[in-house]
Amino acid sequence: MIDHIPTTTFKTRVRDASVAGENPFRWQDVDSDKIFAGKTIVLFALPGAFTPTCSSMHLPGYEANYEALREVGVDEVYCLSVNDAFSMFQWGKQLGVQKVQLLPDGNADFTRQIGMLVRKDNLGFGDRSWRYSMLVKDGHIERWFVEPGRQDNCPDDPFTCSDAETMLEYLRGNAIAPVTSTAA
Ligand code: BEZ
Repeated sequence: MIDHIPTTTFKTRVRDASVAGENPFRWQDVDSDKIFAGKTIVLFALPGAFTPTCSSMHLPGYEANYEALREVGVDEVYCLSVNDAFSMFQWGKQLGVQKVQLLPDGNADFTRQIGMLVRKDNLGFGDRSWRYSMLVKDGHIERWFVEPGRQDNCPDDPFTCSDAETMLEYLRGNAIAPVTSTAA
């Protein structure tokens, strides 16, 4: 597995009061360097906005533990999905997410480069991210938590180690089992 964040540009939407109308947003390119350079970042990735486990457990778990993660030295928490910026925005709004930052990787550029892109054609999803989390310090990936069984068209959706509580335990210095093999 790679140990450094690839250079990527994320296409995000940000609120802009100078934009008239019911949709006061503009496009903003955010380079991966801007997110990771000089910071301690937790990034977790999931297969899709609005999907059941992602909506009921994965993202809400990080939102609920955001302050606890900050207390152990994390600067920011990002939730990445191979979805467009509009879907990510509406998903976060529906869930009332205010702390975790949603990161659209609609072209899958980041996910492909980091080696976590899988096919989910069996669900009609196309290419998506495998579920994982990572602790990144100044662009260096210190720790991966990759869900077991990474493969194309996986018949199930493991959610065992990429959760917020496991990351928190790791950051608090408690023993965590070695990272799962990710040979695909
Ligand atoms: C889920 O979050 O439950 C889910 C994600 C991807 C495919 C199917 C289900």
